[in-house]
Amino acid sequence: MKQVYLDHCATTPIDHRVVEAMIPYYSGDYGNASSIHGYGRKARRALEESREQIAQFIGAKYDELFFTSGGTESDNHAVYGIARVRGDKRTSKIVTTAIEHHAILDPVESLHKEGIIAKLVKVDRDGMVDPDDINRELDDDVSLVSVVHANNEVGTIQPLKEIASMCRDRGVVCHTDAVQSVGKISVNVQELGIDLLSMSAHKIYGPKGIGAIYIKKGTKIESFMKGGSQESNRRAGTENVPLAVGFAKAIELCSRLMEEDGVRILRLKQLLRQRIAEQFEEVIFNGHDTKCLPQILNVSFDSTKRLVDGEALIMGLDLHGVAVTSGSACTSGSLEPSHVLLAMGRDELTARATIRFSLGRGTTEEEINYTVDALKEVVERAGKTRKN
Ligand SMILES: Cc1ncc(COP(=O)(O)O)c(C=O)c1O
Repeated sequence: MKQVYLDHCATTPIDHRVVEAMIPYYSGDYGNASSIHGYGRKARRALEESREQIAQFIGAKYDELFFTSGGTESDNHAVYGIARVRGDKRTSKIVTTAIEHHAILDPVESLHKEGIIAKLVKVDRDGMVDPDDINRELDDDVSLVSVVHANNEVGTIQPLKEIASMCRDRGVVCHTDAVQSVGKISVNVQELGIDLLSMSAHKIYGPKGIGAIYIKKGTKIESFMKGGSQESNRRAGTENVPLAVGFAKAIELCSRLMEEDGVRILRLKQLLRQRIAEQFEEVIFNGHDTKCLPQILNVSFDSTKRLVDGEALIMGLDLHGVAVTSGSACTSGSLEPSHVLLAMGRDELTARATIRFSLGRGTTEEEINYTVDALKEVVERAGKTRKN
């Protein structure tokens, strides 16, 4: 059976050039980057060169980039690290949005239980945040604003520059979760004017288990992991040199291929959208039409026109060898409708009848056509037209 992978926002296949770059650091060059002998110095050099390369790619300085275990840890670090440095929990407030990844929402919720004020700003039907809604929340108690750069379910790209500028005017730390945008669209911390940024390697053909956080020089933030002086005392623990090298290689490939990939993938997404629109008149395309990642097409079956069982869709496509998800991979498996789609005003039944297609570097036109044909068969079985 044909296999079509359209779940690149959950994770990407690791590029063979990335694997090749990593292998020497698992075998001959396995030193501990903190050791002062030759093995250690070699590992240290590889680690710092990787840091330099990744920092440069996002317009950061080399000593503003810190390795973590991935996007989740970077997000947690931003939330807890800023909240804790503020000290007085009762007067501290965090402003974020209703469409963040759970790596932001869950730490914010746990701090809220400890007494911090948490404000989730709404979004419009395209999943777009209005910067004025953020601005209205910026009182003297706010310690952190965190807004996802590109949403992982619908792909909408937020007006981050405006939001960061408002935060700067009020002296508030601004963080962005750029896990889905780095390596797919241009992301430059200077141009955006943000203080903290989370990123992850496995979304861009790099290895799983490594990410980074950009921390603008001068930002006061608590260290997350204690127990050693690694990562300039910010994150204790022996550095994972092979993964850092793989991350840097993935970034290098993105710097060369991102633009060309973006154009090609957008054309394929437009084809997918057009073919789906031709086949089914009851679909809603979720996410902003133009301010959107080229990789994501999020489609719902409008429950007022046709009732479709979302899980049956995903399972049905899987039986045709097509891998997609119903929402964020991290929450799939739970039967809850996506909090992102609900925040965008979709009703529960429509939100449940949703597929997120996420395209990647290897996606072909033939795969797109195969997927639409498979979807047609699956929908015939999984859905019935509603009789009004
Ligand atoms: C927007 C966003 N933030 C954070 C994460 C978590 O990243 P990681 O899997 O590297 O922990 C994800 C993963 O899906 C994501 O899409």
